[in-house]
Amino acid sequence: MNVLFIASECAPFVKTGGLADVIGALPKALDSFDVKTKVLLPAYPAFDRLVSAGKVVLEIPALHGGPANLVSITAEGIDLLLLDAPHLYDRTGGLYIDESGRDWQDNHLRFGALCEVGAAIGQGKLKNWPVDLIHIHDWQAGLVPAYLQQSKAPAPPCVTTIHNIAFQGIFEPSSLKQLGLDESFFTLDGLEYFGKVSFLKSAVAYSEKITTVSPTYAQEILKSSFGMGFEGLLQSRKDDLTGILNGIDLEGWNPQTDPALAAPYAKKSMKGKSKNRAALFKRFGLKATKTAPLFCVISRLSSQKGLDLLLQAIPGLVERGAKLAVLGSGDKELEVGFLEAAQKYPDSVGVVLGYDEPLAHLFQGGSNAILIPSRFEPCGLTQLYAMRYGTLPIVARTGGLADTVIDANEAALTAACATGLQFAPDDANALDLAIAKTCALFKQPTVWEKMVQNSMAQENGWAGSAAKYIELYQELIERAKEPSSQ
Ligand code: ADP
Ligand code: GLC
Repeated sequence: MNVLFIASECAPFVKTGGLADVIGALPKALDSFDVKTKVLLPAYPAFDRLVSAGKVVLEIPALHGGPANLVSITAEGIDLLLLDAPHLYDRTGGLYIDESGRDWQDNHLRFGALCEVGAAIGQGKLKNWPVDLIHIHDWQAGLVPAYLQQSKAPAPPCVTTIHNIAFQGIFEPSSLKQLGLDESFFTLDGLEYFGKVSFLKSAVAYSEKITTVSPTYAQEILKSSFGMGFEGLLQSRKDDLTGILNGIDLEGWNPQTDPALAAPYAKKSMKGKSKNRAALFKRFGLKATKTAPLFCVISRLSSQKGLDLLLQAIPGLVERGAKLAVLGSGDKELEVGFLEAAQKYPDSVGVVLGYDEPLAHLFQGGSNAILIPSRFEPCGLTQLYAMRYGTLPIVARTGGLADTVIDANEAALTAACATGLQFAPDDANALDLAIAKTCALFKQPTVWEKMVQNSMAQENGWAGSAAKYIELYQELIERAKEPSSQ
């Protein structure tokens, strides 16, 4: 089975968040079931070396303002198709934003072009690689099914995965014409969304199946409190919507072999973990303590992640003798808030603003617990990495966080199966109570160690979820073969 992935990020090459981790890991897991994936991505500058080394498999003389090449190369075990269109992607700044933090003005063209080329590949443009199914991810790939619909040629089935419904790819109605899409798409049943055009709406309206990245989030987005305007459309497609939990790359995130750690460790020999903790204490100049936990945060600093609640809870955390290390970047107000906390409590709070992959690994290795007070969380990966590193996740009870962490309530403590803490509602008081409970549990080494062992024993790799995707792919491919669907 040949599956074409279309996405805007892929670890370890280009990453702003968990989407990249999924696109970098799922194809490898599918490969072990003999599903062959190629991943179509924009050739951002980070791909320059690979573009030079790769093979041009398609030349496109004109693609929304300039020529483009499609370059094929295998790197880090992933078969990549890189859309080399310098007029769209060769620029300094972020994947989606310019150096001043504003969205690129031509994002509709940048990602519309990706979709147009993706649809063409799906419909057989690469002669030696017939596509059985297209799997698109988030709004950046959302126009693919619209292009498939517009072309009258036969097309393989299309699966959409919603990684985060907060990002909907909304543009002016005039972008349809610029992208060569017929005006007839601008309807309530089509791409029209409150007077604008939404790329995500194309994905949700026209894909054969829709998945999202956890079962709880699949339920949540059907309600107005989480659906962010998409709940009505999703309700109408409820029978085609499923939640499939993300996995993690067990090789890239392994405390026994992780080169970013100060010392390796494993479930059976945990000595190295305290060396990593000591490395973090030293780096931030935190005052040593054996009786209180080191909490960490590794996160985009945005309202989704609920870190304003943590700012309110810091005085209580410090009062209990606990320590906090924060790695993140994003909203300026939150950045300033955490810097001020580090200045106010230099013995207890350390902050690094920015994006630092090796440091994220050291944080996971050296902390005792990770705080994830998200207001919504489609899946969340940091709690999964944390458990693999014996760092207990303290999470808001929402989305994938609710699905992956076993709360240390009375029943779970009695059964000795807890892996972390869940709290609700999503307010500073509940977070403060969860921090207090974590500090109390830390003072009971036997209970704490059991929770650490439980969390490290969780099977959070991709095997189970990859099998679920394949089942879905097979169902659609079989259905497409039925005469009625011709
Ligand atoms: P989201 O995709 O919503 O940001 P996830 O938990 O799914 O949340 O994934 C976040 C990913 O980004 C994880 O791999 C995490 O380690 C990484 N990450 C987030 N912030 C940073 C940062 N400041 N530095 C390094 N890695 C980060
Ligand atoms: C999004 C979500 C996050 C999820 C990730 C990968 O960025 O915010 O919860 O883990 O996508 O699916």
